[in-house]
Amino acid sequence: MDAQTPAIEFRNVSVSFDEHQVLNDISFKLEHGEMILLTGVSGSGKSVLLRVAMGLLKPDSGRIFIEGKEIQKLDETELIAMRGGLMGMVFQEDSLFTGLPVYENAAYRLEEHGWSDEEIEGAVAEVLRFVGLDGEEDKFPEELSGGMKRRLEIARALIGWPRIMLFDEPTMSLDPIAALKVLDLIVRARDMNHISSLYVTKKIHEFDHLASPKTKVMVLLDGSVVFRGSVDEFKASDLPAIKELVTLDPYDHRRDPYFSDPWDKHRLPKETIL
Ligand SMILES: Nc1ncnc2c1ncn2[C@@H]1O[C@H](COP(=O)(O)OP(=O)(O)OP(=O)(O)O)[C@@H](O)[C@H]1O
Ligand SMILES: [Mg+2]
Repeated sequence: MDAQTPAIEFRNVSVSFDEHQVLNDISFKLEHGEMILLTGVSGSGKSVLLRVAMGLLKPDSGRIFIEGKEIQKLDETELIAMRGGLMGMVFQEDSLFTGLPVYENAAYRLEEHGWSDEEIEGAVAEVLRFVGLDGEEDKFPEELSGGMKRRLEIARALIGWPRIMLFDEPTMSLDPIAALKVLDLIVRARDMNHISSLYVTKKIHEFDHLASPKTKVMVLLDGSVVFRGSVDEFKASDLPAIKELVTLDPYDHRRDPYFSDPWDKHRLPKETIL
């Protein structure tokens, strides 16, 4: 893979359910190492776009390329291999296996893709330490708090360090502190491993935490891209669709307990989950 090839490219992608057009002629590129913050009101098509990118849903028309490979041309085995090795997704809804302990939930994706037990053990230990769930290997999801469950979902998606990550509102149901821990993890994973990512959120205040020189914003409205630009251009925009999103998220982040820099050297070792 060369750094010039976009991680994801959509060319004129459309999706309809019955008569209802949900994605309408979407074209964009997620460049290598870039993060696109994808936002838009409920029902605008964000989750459908992620499912299409992951090859979980076939578009009615248009073409999708993952690291230069057209996914419609892959057979089911190649698609599964692509999802297993190259891409990780954190779903909007809970997707943990309730009957399996933390260890098995984290290991699942690698087990499906033929890693040896020894490799899996190492990878699980690393990823659980990364999300602060080391020592919890034998617990079942029902024994975890909401924030811990979300961190396990992130561990499950990050295991094996895929180069492309898709996050669908990963902080949606969390209280502000648990949400900030999750954002912190996402920023660290992204920056340590140069992950290319699509991050869906309706919480506009998260943009400040996630912004980096390689962060862009894309806004969907009724299945169409109505804005694409930098975080600063987004904030300065007076597009009605953007104004509406900002009004829907009245969160005052001046009261945020967050450490503004996830890489701050002054953070105490055990102060957070890491
Ligand atoms: N499997 C499906 N069958 C029929 N309609 C669907 C299906 N999946 C999504 N839709 C419709 O597609 C539209 C976009 O849905 P989507 O889940 O992408 O919205 P969203 O932007 O992620 O919203 P939210 O912010 O609430 O998560 C909605 O009108 C939804 O009802
Ligand atoms: Mg959604």
